[in-house]
Amino acid sequence: MLKLVPGPVEAGGISLNNHLLLAAGILGTTGASLSRVLSEGAGGVVTKSIGPLPFEGHPGPCLVPVEGGLLNAMGLPNPSMEFLDELMLLAGKPVIVSIFGGSPSEFATVAGWFSGKVRAVELNLSCPHAAGYGASLGSDPVLVEECTRAVARSGVPTWVKLTPNVTDIREIGRAAERGGASALVAINTVKAMRISVGLRRPVLGNRMGGLSGRAVFPVAVRCVYELYEACSIPIIGCGGISSADDVLEMMMAGATAVEIGTAVMDDISVFTRIKRDLYSPDGEPADTIVGCAHD
Ligand SMILES: Cc1cc2nc3c(=O)[nH]c(=O)nc-3n(C[C@H](O)[C@H](O)[C@H](O)COP(=O)(O)O)c2cc1C
Repeated sequence: MLKLVPGPVEAGGISLNNHLLLAAGILGTTGASLSRVLSEGAGGVVTKSIGPLPFEGHPGPCLVPVEGGLLNAMGLPNPSMEFLDELMLLAGKPVIVSIFGGSPSEFATVAGWFSGKVRAVELNLSCPHAAGYGASLGSDPVLVEECTRAVARSGVPTWVKLTPNVTDIREIGRAAERGGASALVAINTVKAMRISVGLRRPVLGNRMGGLSGRAVFPVAVRCVYELYEACSIPIIGCGGISSADDVLEMMMAGATAVEIGTAVMDDISVFTRIKRDLYSPDGEPADTIVGCAHD
């Protein structure tokens, strides 16, 4: 089986311990849980999305297992600025803070709180279930460009996480690139819902939410592939990854590194397992693999 040579990875303006990152919102609410994921072998961690004000999130049920994945409508619960305290444990570690806001200036304010305390900022312009935030802004290329520019102009490496719930993800990727993004992250969850036949009601408290896990992997591969052809900045692949083969497939589509979410909720040792299967001292350099499916 194809293996990669191990070692540090440069992606989106920062250095990571390997190609595998924890995705935003998965176990990323405390410094202790992020530290644990790093000690389990993640090459970097993305925090829960932090916003300008504390939110409690949507009423439950917020997280429901479905075939091939999870349906969630958490509603961006977060402690806002107080999250800074959680980062003390993680000084010098490969931490990326995920942030959200309702306008370019809110994005700039929240990013400013974390300046010098994290390696990069990831803009959540993609959550499908938070009115006025996330995908509400992230499906408008003008707003994506403005939010990206408002953060990137400070000089912090700025990753922009995109929603697949748009007609043409390439247009949104190009807008982020024009705004000065250092990397694109694709994808956040796919807007979805289920209805309980017994109760005759939607299963999620918020009615609609986002689908993640195995079922979204082909959607994520397609988005990464399209972005690789449309943009020149690095792409971080995310969505349904749970094995070394999935990582290689994402890289062949064009991903420089990957984020893993739902598979970590099933099994925190996923990083150790993928690393064992992915790396070997006599493996190939990753740059011969990234984007090779386009040749
Ligand atoms: C319970 C849960 C909470 C999430 N919270 C966030 C979040 O706070 N910010 C964000 O950008 N994405 C969030 N996501 C999306 C994930 O980071 C990821 O983009 C998505 O789940 C697809 O990857 P996966 O299939 O590996 O989980 C969340 C996903 C889940 C399942």
